[in-house]
Amino acid sequence: YNVPAPKNEPVLSYAPGSKERQLLKKALADARAVELDIPMYIGAEEVRSGKKKKLSPPHDHQHVLGYFHEGDKSHVEQAVQAALNARELWVNLGWEHRAAIFLKAADLLAGPYRYKINAATMLGQSKNAFQAEIDSACELIDFLRFNVHFMSQIYHDQPESSPGVWNRIEYRALEGFTFALTPFNFTAIAGNLPTSMAMMGNTVVWKPANTQIYAANVIMQVLKEAGLPDGVINLIYVSGPDAGDVIFSHREFAGLHFTGSTGVFQGMWKTIGQNIQQYRSYPRIVGETGGKDFVMVHKSANAKEVSTALSRGAFEYQGQKCSAASRAYIPSNLWDDVKKYMLEDLKSFKMGGTEDFGNFINAVIDEKAFNSITGYIEKARQNPMNEIIAGGKYDKSKGYFIEPTVIVSKDPSSVTMCEEIFGPVLTIYVYHSENFEQTLELVDSTSPYALTGSIFAKDRYAIELAAKKLTNAAGNFYINDKPTGAVVGQQPFGGARGSGTNDKAGAKVNLLRWVSLRTVKETF
Ligand code: ALA
Repeated sequence: YNVPAPKNEPVLSYAPGSKERQLLKKALADARAVELDIPMYIGAEEVRSGKKKKLSPPHDHQHVLGYFHEGDKSHVEQAVQAALNARELWVNLGWEHRAAIFLKAADLLAGPYRYKINAATMLGQSKNAFQAEIDSACELIDFLRFNVHFMSQIYHDQPESSPGVWNRIEYRALEGFTFALTPFNFTAIAGNLPTSMAMMGNTVVWKPANTQIYAANVIMQVLKEAGLPDGVINLIYVSGPDAGDVIFSHREFAGLHFTGSTGVFQGMWKTIGQNIQQYRSYPRIVGETGGKDFVMVHKSANAKEVSTALSRGAFEYQGQKCSAASRAYIPSNLWDDVKKYMLEDLKSFKMGGTEDFGNFINAVIDEKAFNSITGYIEKARQNPMNEIIAGGKYDKSKGYFIEPTVIVSKDPSSVTMCEEIFGPVLTIYVYHSENFEQTLELVDSTSPYALTGSIFAKDRYAIELAAKKLTNAAGNFYINDKPTGAVVGQQPFGGARGSGTNDKAGAKVNLLRWVSLRTVKETF
């Protein structure tokens, strides 16, 4: 069978007075009316450890959403065992049945669960309605539908045969169990990592970020309702060390699908390296890690387009998208206009919690992030080469709020120009308009990361030069657009260098990491 190419899920606008807005408001009110009691899902069991941890929205410390049940090493062991037990049936199930489960999950998310998943993301992760719609509902629906389509293409991709010889390729699941470690910032990515592995016939232990458990639980409910058999994906809430100790020392550990920090990824890779002789097969390691995403502007660019790209690209979801613009290089001839338009934009951004749909800027995810981001702001403030031209204030009394902050630095290698901050902080270097080529060198060499980046120019020679000089500086390269908002099926997402293994999310190349091929030659 072939699974036809899907269309991207249309994005709802939640315009004032719309039916969608009413339904989302109702989902938020429904969420408020119940106290969450979120279990782990191991095999057929909903596991309540009794060790209850409180969940509050990052934007409102007073609001208790409910609790999740935290596990320990014994739960990791149980989850691994459940994954191994489920493997045989799952591996032997025809792929079209696996496809049907994930297509149904996509339809459930597009239909009855759409408002629920958005409300969970808005409350649990402090996204505004529009960002939740794009980054949780639509992107996850797209991941599921496009991946199923890619899966069918992969299985149909067969080698040449010759008279008397029939060659074929079997796309087998990895031997053992796999591990998904998922981030808080995109509900869609959190859902994509375990499902893309499971789709290809693998069984999975899934550990979400503690700050994303609410929406992860909704995803799990959707998968169960779509008919995912018990034990195929096992969702546990444990500490990183507890998970790592059990999983990376297990002989059957077969693959890691990760999105998160560079440090955590490198630590896990080292552990896996140290344990390499213990495994039955070399584990597949796929990770999307840090970023220091850039906007590079040529003197021929349009100042208004640049300023919009900066204010949206740097500050949507409080700069906590892995793709968020975090450093910008503006030519001196455009700076006055870019600055004027950008500051006007920033003034119009209202800050506050998710319930008021007029708010654009919400809280950052937790206290650790708040302290780290504000630490960078203070460091920048102390550097005489820097000027903070917008924001710079913060307050964690009600929620973890940080104003969108713009730093102009005369030093292109200052700390906030180079290091990943993962928050609402943009650092700008204004270069002499004639130094375009030298500045391209700076863009390429300033950070160890290579996730996303943009070039703004009208001059085609400048665009070509930037594309060439920055060949390895970004896995997602945008010409005259902001560096965020990659759409599944249109712009496969991921970067190399310090940003990851570049096995693009929502693409065939990623799914191929989760199969182990057997080539069969049959002679007649
Ligand atoms: N789709 C997300 C973005 O590009 C990852 O911002």
